[in-house]
Amino acid sequence: MSRADSRINPPDDSGLSELIERRVQDPERRELLQRGVAIAALSIAGGTTAVLLEGCGGGGDGGGPVVPPPDTGPGVVPGRATTLGFNAVAKNVLDALTVATGYTARVLLRTGDPLVPGVGEYSNVGTDPAASFQSRFGDCGDGMQFFGMGADGRFSPGASDRGLLAVNHEYIIPDKLHANGPTVVGGVRTVPEEVRKEFYAQGVSVTEVRRGADNTWTYISGSTYNRRIDTVTDMVLSGPAGSTAYMATKYAPDGSRTRGTVSNCAHGHTPWGTYLSCEENWAAYFRRIASVDNPKRSAKELASFARYGVAGDGQELWATVTPDTADALYGRWNAMVIGATARDDFRNAPNTFGWVVEMDPFAPASTPKKRTGLGRIAHEGCWPAKAQGGRPLVWYTGCDGGNEYIYKYVSAVPWDPADANGGMAVGDKYLDNGRLYAAKFNADGTGTWLELAFGRNGIGPGSPLYPFADQADVLINARLAADTVGATRMDRPEWGAVDPMTGAVYMTLTNNTTRTLAATDAANPRYYADRSTSGTATWGNPNGHIIRWQETNGDPAAATFRWDIFLFGSRASADRVNVNVSGLTAENDFSSPDGMIFSQSTGICWINTDDGYYTDVTNCMTLAALPGFVGDGTAITINNTGAAGVTKQVQTNASYPLGSRLKRFLVGPIFCEMSGITESPDGKALFVNVMHPGGHWPDGGTARPRSATVVITRNDGGLIGV
Ligand code: FEO
Ligand code: CA
Ligand code: CA
Repeated sequence: MSRADSRINPPDDSGLSELIERRVQDPERRELLQRGVAIAALSIAGGTTAVLLEGCGGGGDGGGPVVPPPDTGPGVVPGRATTLGFNAVAKNVLDALTVATGYTARVLLRTGDPLVPGVGEYSNVGTDPAASFQSRFGDCGDGMQFFGMGADGRFSPGASDRGLLAVNHEYIIPDKLHANGPTVVGGVRTVPEEVRKEFYAQGVSVTEVRRGADNTWTYISGSTYNRRIDTVTDMVLSGPAGSTAYMATKYAPDGSRTRGTVSNCAHGHTPWGTYLSCEENWAAYFRRIASVDNPKRSAKELASFARYGVAGDGQELWATVTPDTADALYGRWNAMVIGATARDDFRNAPNTFGWVVEMDPFAPASTPKKRTGLGRIAHEGCWPAKAQGGRPLVWYTGCDGGNEYIYKYVSAVPWDPADANGGMAVGDKYLDNGRLYAAKFNADGTGTWLELAFGRNGIGPGSPLYPFADQADVLINARLAADTVGATRMDRPEWGAVDPMTGAVYMTLTNNTTRTLAATDAANPRYYADRSTSGTATWGNPNGHIIRWQETNGDPAAATFRWDIFLFGSRASADRVNVNVSGLTAENDFSSPDGMIFSQSTGICWINTDDGYYTDVTNCMTLAALPGFVGDGTAITINNTGAAGVTKQVQTNASYPLGSRLKRFLVGPIFCEMSGITESPDGKALFVNVMHPGGHWPDGGTARPRSATVVITRNDGGLIGV
C-alpha cells in the first residue's frame, strides 16, 4: 500500500443494468451461456488459431465453475511450462521470508546500502547525512527491471550474468529514515536536513549486479553505472505537453523542464534498453491550501485539481521549510498562486508530475525525460507489447485509483529494429509522437480502445465535463478525457504484463473498497464482504482480481479486443460460487494482486501481492501461475448481496480454473508488501522487492526493518518455478 491514499473516482452505475440486461437478451449470447461454450482465438508465434471449446466445466447456470482435476483440461499453451515444480509454501505471519523448498533467497540490496564505496555502511538508526543518500540505495523499492549488459557495456537483452538493475523508490518511511522520525513543530518541518534526506531517498536507483560462478548475485559498489535519480534531478518535459504554458514554472519559465520525480511506483521498459519510471501518487506531495488558493484559480484549474486531488498540506510538509533556498528546493512543492505570474511561482508544478519518465541506465550522465504523450494520471507502470519490426510500438498503462482507467499508447512511427541501443534519442522518436487510448470493457466480453484526442470522441471546448483547449490540455488532464469518452472504471489497475506465448495482456486490479453494489459490472463484477478472523468486514472488492485481454487479430495496435477475468483473489474459505470464483485452495489463496511479470523463459506468470485484508492470516506473497488463454473458461453469473440484503446479479467470463497450476512460491516478512519483480533473461534468477517490512527483517535482532531487493535462485541452478 502506498502511504498516499488512492484518489477515488466516484463510481458510476448509469446504464450498467441496461447493458447487462441487453447482453442476456441477445439470442446468440444467451445460447452460449446456456451451453457453457466459449470461443477464443489463440495467437501463437505469429499465427492465429481459432479454438472452439465446448462444455468446459459448466457454470452457465450461475453455479460457478467446477474445479477440474489438476493440470488437465483446456488452457495449456504451447511453449509454456505445464507444471509447477515446487511444493506450495504455507501461509504464515512470520518475521521472515519463506521461499519454496529447493530455492534460496538472498538479500541483494537494502535501503541505504552504499552504491559508492566511500559513502560508508548505512547506520540504520537515522543518523546518516542527507547528502549520503545521493550515493545510497533508496527506500521502499518497488518497480524494477533487469537490463542485461554485454561485454561492451551496452544493453544486451539476452545477457544474464551481468546487468543493470533499475529500481524505483516509491516513498519513504520517515520513522525509520530519521533518528526519531520527522521533526514537525506546529505543522512545519523545522529540520531542512531531514527533508533533504527524504528528497534523496526517493526516485530511482541504477545498480550494476553480477552473477558469480557459484550462482550467487552481488551488486558492484562503485560501478560507473551506479546512479541515483531523485526528487531534485533536472528533467526534460518532452512530447506534446512539454514546453507549453501549462508547464511554466519559476524553474523553467518556458515549461521545458522540471525538477525531479516522485512516487515512482511501477515501471516499464523499451526495446532500446531504457527504463520507464512511473509517477503514481504525486498529487499528495503538493501543498495547496484550497481555501486560500481556490479564489485565485480558473474554473478549469479547479476542475483539474479536483480530479487529481491536488489539495492539502502536502504529504511530508516539504513546502513548509523556511528559509527556502535560492533555487526553491522546498518552495517548489508549494503549488499555490503566490507570485505575479506562473513564471514567478510553482502554481503549475503539479502539471509537471504524473508522467512516465524515461531514463537510460546505460548512460549515467543522460537527462531523464518525462514523456507527456503517455498522459498524466496516477501512473502505476508502463508495460510494452512485444516489439515487431515495421509495426507501431505499444505500451499499456494503468491509473491506480479507485474506479480509474486502463490506457494504451500506440507510437505513430513503426518500430525499426536498427534503433535498438539508440538511447534517449530513440525515445524522442517513439514516445513523443503517438496516440493515447482508454479501455472500455463491454458487457459482452468485447472491448474497445477509445482515443483521447482533441477534437475526437467528444473531447473539445464543448465537453461538458471540462472544456479542453488543445492536445496538451487533453494529456495533462487525461483522467478527464477518459471520463469524457466513457471508459470503464476499474477496481484499481496496478501492474500489467504481456504473455510472451499468446500476446494476451494481463492487468492486476488490486482491490476496490469504493466499488458499490450498484456499480458492479462485467469487468468488475464482485461486491461482497471480506471477513477477517476477528469478524471485521470490508465491503466492495477487497481481494481484487486480474483481468486479461487479447487484441483483435493479435495486433497490439488494434482498436478492439476480447477479455475475460483470469483470477479472482479470495480467502479459500469464502463463498465458492460468488467470491472464491477461481476455486482457490490453501495452496494458492491470496488477496490484492499487484506486481506481475511473465517469465520470458518458462511463461510462468509471477504475481506479487500488496494486501491489507487477508493479513490476519498471511503476510504478502509471490505466486506462480500457468495461464491458459483469453476465452478458455466459461460465462458465469455472480450473485452479489450487499450489506442491506440488496442483491445484484452480474454476468462475466471467468478463465478456466488453474487448480495446481497456481501455487504460492514465497511468503514475505510481516507487514511487508511484495512489490517489484523482474528476472534475469535466462529465467534462472528472480528478483523481488520486499517493501516496508514491519518487524526486524532483514537484519534481525532489534534492527530497524529495511526494504530490500531479494534475488532467488534454484539450488541446482535451474529455471525458477518449473
Ligand atoms: Fe504504488 Fe499502485 O502501487
Ligand atoms: Ca498496491
Ligand atoms: Ca503497486
